Amino acid sequence: MTTDARGVTKRFGSRVALRDVSFSVAEGELLAIIGPNGAGKTTLLSILAGILRADAGQLSRPPREVGWVPQQPAVYGKLSVRENLRLFARLEKVADPDAVVARMLEQTGLGDRADDELGTLSGGNRQRVNIAVGLLADPPLLLLDEPSSSLDPRQRERLWEFVDGLARRAGTAVVFTTHNVAEAERWADRVLVLADGEVIFTGTPGELRAAEIEGGDATDFEGAFVRFLRERGH
Ligand SMILES: Nc1ncnc2c1ncn2[C@@H]1O[C@H](COP(=O)(O)OP(=O)(O)OP(=O)(O)O)[C@@H](O)[C@H]1O
Ligand SMILES: [Mg+2]
Repeated sequence: MTTDARGVTKRFGSRVALRDVSFSVAEGELLAIIGPNGAGKTTLLSILAGILRADAGQLSRPPREVGWVPQQPAVYGKLSVRENLRLFARLEKVADPDAVVARMLEQTGLGDRADDELGTLSGGNRQRVNIAVGLLADPPLLLLDEPSSSLDPRQRERLWEFVDGLARRAGTAVVFTTHNVAEAERWADRVLVLADGEVIFTGTPGELRAAEIEGGDATDFEGAFVRFLRERGH
């Protein structure tokens, strides 16, 4: 099933954070949302997750079917990996918490770290736990807000391989934000460019590059992206 957002608008006082935003994401698809600071990326994900309420617009998928991995995770550094997962499985009211915890440990490859304090894990492994929490209820749609921002290149690679595997194997639809546009180009099936609360592009990374190909170095996706924004007044 495809997830659709139609005409999503959000104001904070007189400031319009999102204006008439529409997009779809299919089963097993990785959609990257990229755009400058303050573009509305986190606001959009928060609305999809049911944390914020839109002022207008429709969402085809209720928040209970959405897994949410915020940039500031809610996990506890002093609890073990297993204890964190068990706690959040209870909060999510999953039917069989122990089975779900075992499945998440297996899926994330963290079985051998299950009884370690979360705070002692590497950033990459902690991020896996954050994502595992978002996946506890086995949601068909997973939202990741800047999941790779604090990771080194090798950990980033592992993270994206894991997320890619989720989409390919389990058919999970994944919407993520990043400021690393090369990462969006490499891993996303489609890219949505948000600027000042408006969608200014949706398409494949190749189409975004093609929209900006003349007048620049075609090998440099980030440069093409910055030119794309500038030419549209952002
Ligand atoms: N709770 C809030 N109250 C008032 N204004 C807000 C609130 N949350 C976000 N905004 C405003 O809405 C706009 C969009 O913010 P948002 O955090 O969604 O941007 P972003 O694209 O995620 O930026 P970044 O790349 O820096 O994470 C900004 O102008 C921001 O100041
Ligand atoms: Mg943000």
